Amino acid sequence: MTSIVDAPEWRALTKNAEALAGTSMRDLFARDPDRFRRYSLSAAGLFLDFSKNKISDEILDNLLALAKARGLEARRDAMFAGDKINETEDRPVLHVALRAGADAAYAAGGAPVSALVNEELARMKRFADAVQGGKVRGRTGKALVNVVNIGIGGSDLGPQMAVEALRPYWIKGRRSHFVSNVDGRHLADTLSELDPETTLFVIASKTFTTQETLANARSAKDWFLNSGAREEDIAKHFAALSTNEEAVTAFGVDPENMFRFWDWVGGRYSLWSAIGLSIALQVGFQNFEKLLAGARAMDAHFRAAPLGENMPALLALVGVWNRNFLDIRAHAVLPYDQHLHRLPAYLQQADMESNGKRVGLDGAPVAHETGPVLFGEPGTNGQHAFYQLLHQGTDIVSADFIAAATAASELGDHHQLLLANFLAQTEALMRGRTEAEARADLAAAGLAPAEIDRLAPHKAFPGDRPTSSILMDRLTPETLGALLALYEHKIFCQGVIWGINSFDQWGVELGKALAQDILPEIGGPGETRPPATARDSSTNGLIDRVNKARGQRSGR
Ligand code: F6P
Repeated sequence: MTSIVDAPEWRALTKNAEALAGTSMRDLFARDPDRFRRYSLSAAGLFLDFSKNKISDEILDNLLALAKARGLEARRDAMFAGDKINETEDRPVLHVALRAGADAAYAAGGAPVSALVNEELARMKRFADAVQGGKVRGRTGKALVNVVNIGIGGSDLGPQMAVEALRPYWIKGRRSHFVSNVDGRHLADTLSELDPETTLFVIASKTFTTQETLANARSAKDWFLNSGAREEDIAKHFAALSTNEEAVTAFGVDPENMFRFWDWVGGRYSLWSAIGLSIALQVGFQNFEKLLAGARAMDAHFRAAPLGENMPALLALVGVWNRNFLDIRAHAVLPYDQHLHRLPAYLQQADMESNGKRVGLDGAPVAHETGPVLFGEPGTNGQHAFYQLLHQGTDIVSADFIAAATAASELGDHHQLLLANFLAQTEALMRGRTEAEARADLAAAGLAPAEIDRLAPHKAFPGDRPTSSILMDRLTPETLGALLALYEHKIFCQGVIWGINSFDQWGVELGKALAQDILPEIGGPGETRPPATARDSSTNGLIDRVNKARGQRSGR
């Protein structure tokens, strides 16, 4: 197979980038008053403006030609058809089937799955409704008002992000807690505020073998049993979300309280599955269904819209342009919405675990860059932290700005202030401020010529920093669902263009295996250990230091 960088479409884009070097986005906007209209579109309740990227019609045409040449449409169809597109794990990738609705008829690798999906959703609904209605209660008859989700990665980030995002929809009196870190403080701090009689543990793990989750689940079980509960009470206080029935049963969760999903659901794509139970428990099953419906609307758009009018494909192509042709190595996700404060963390896993790959599907190293470093914080907080680098740093960082035009409940003029900041930042990043403009501003402020000379270079902004803006009327379960599906499909499209498998994660395995290996070398408190010799001098030295400090500490 010819390397992608030798493809004519890739070469054309390389030439486009060279030709564009002397043109600024200011110039592009000045030349074309219609730019906003041409480089924006609506789908599934979202509006995307990608006009503040350094693109032109010719560039967009070449990007679309690249997508076609990489077989994006056929690959998309193969995903929806349930083909085994996750080739290294020999699995279909069918999270779209989880939110396809009652009439869907999806098959994974030829086997029908929609009836199973709907059956599991019905079980989740019964359970969530029963907890909400007080039919399911704790061992002493008290309502289960606290839910502790124990999981990590996709079994934590998705539900936690969605629960935070949907705060206005929370069931009164219900509180969800998310414990992920194997650091015992995370569980201990969480439990210190809870009453075992009113706490429901939801153990979320696709594999039910993840070290951190099992350690937390075991300690949670001990805490519960030490509160005077008996083994048979576990059924009332523990649920499990997993693909691994055997391990769930071995852990002691009642099969009635196990909600299943399947190996064709990737961990970071799993919040639509049983993993979403914690969302349903916090916002009610109806709102969880609305979240699925929002994603379904984006799926329908992604599946049917021609690539040139396809929101996930366009967002992906703009990302490819920035990453591969403008050499932009980092991408910021900047939600101007406090309730979306966990979105950057969620997308970090979705994007970086999916597209942080260095070999193609054929096993050969790729000859081009793949996923960027992704980070973010909600606006306006980020403005007072890392935006300095975004505006004036030596590296160019691309960004997605995300905002809702209206808030669930508006407090004074806060939302206007928030929106004004959102708009000001995208304008500033695009336009910048020339040194001449900086000089004029300083002169208008009455500064002496020498002072102007001294300060003007520091006050100039190069601009030309690409941003995309995603707007919604309001953040609701539906628009949140559409937003998350937009990003899922964007990541998929980029993976196809880069020729990598976005659905495996072998890169996390080495560290896991070494941690198992090192574990027996770490002494308990007060234990004396012989010097470590099995590894490099740095790792041995660190083990010895840790053991020395731990050896001097007795007890707890
Ligand atoms: O370590 C990576 C990973 O496998 C993620 O892909 C996954 O979301 C996370 O661990 C948790 O896995 P599980 O749900 O099987 O506990």
